[in-house]
Amino acid sequence: MIQIKNLNKTFHPNTTRAFTALDKITLTIKANQLIILKGVSGSGKSTLLSIIASLQKPTSGELLVEGEAIAKLPDLHASHFRAATIGFIPQSFNLFDSFTVWENVSLALIPLGFSPKEIRQKTQKALEIAQISHKKDALVSNLSGGEKQRTAIARALVNDAKIILCDEPTANLDSENSKKFIMIIEQLKKLGKTIIIATHDPLFDSLSFVDSVINMEEGKIL
Ligand SMILES: Nc1ncnc2c1ncn2[C@@H]1O[C@H](COP(=O)(O)OP(=O)(O)O)[C@@H](O)[C@H]1O
Ligand SMILES: [Mg+2]
Repeated sequence: MIQIKNLNKTFHPNTTRAFTALDKITLTIKANQLIILKGVSGSGKSTLLSIIASLQKPTSGELLVEGEAIAKLPDLHASHFRAATIGFIPQSFNLFDSFTVWENVSLALIPLGFSPKEIRQKTQKALEIAQISHKKDALVSNLSGGEKQRTAIARALVNDAKIILCDEPTANLDSENSKKFIMIIEQLKKLGKTIIIATHDPLFDSLSFVDSVINMEEGKIL
């Protein structure tokens, strides 16, 4: 599903500010696996997720997502590929505060060319899986942190993405919302999703349905 070989990311290359955030990362993630990416702040977790999501390009190395060398695609093709294949739940959620939950989720389908009926059905289904359909008409600005996160999960699911990436999902959640998040992730795993969660929350250490914990330190996999 995801194959990474000798991947490097250097910010400001060839300058005195050059900084290597990812250093020869090699990693294979199979379909339907749930992977926990651990490591202290600054170890490169978010950078790795954003490269897998093709939000930025690596400096060198190989990256195949579903057999596609996404880092080599032109930006427009990469963003189409992302819209159809990847659900990304960023740490800050990146929702539109003055839009409703329903609007935030259904907007993600617009670039994919679905009919209005398909958009309604897919949006409803994603809201149900993410346990937020009861708030579908609420403005995002009026939601709690946990509700915002479930809206971001619904948006990540609405395109039937096979791959779900989450960045520090429990960083701003209380323990009840964190447990709810974990139950939703367990369900996504049952639905066949391939999931990568970047976190340093020990809550994820002892989950029976985690396939592998990958430890990162200073841009390297230990
Ligand atoms: N756009 C950027 N320009 C320069 N340095 C960056 C940039 N993005 C991230 N970094 C640096 O790369 C390192 C890894 O960052 P990040 O991937 O966000 O780590 P983590 O998510 O594990 O906290 C950090 O030292 C960070 O400061
Ligand atoms: Mg991070």
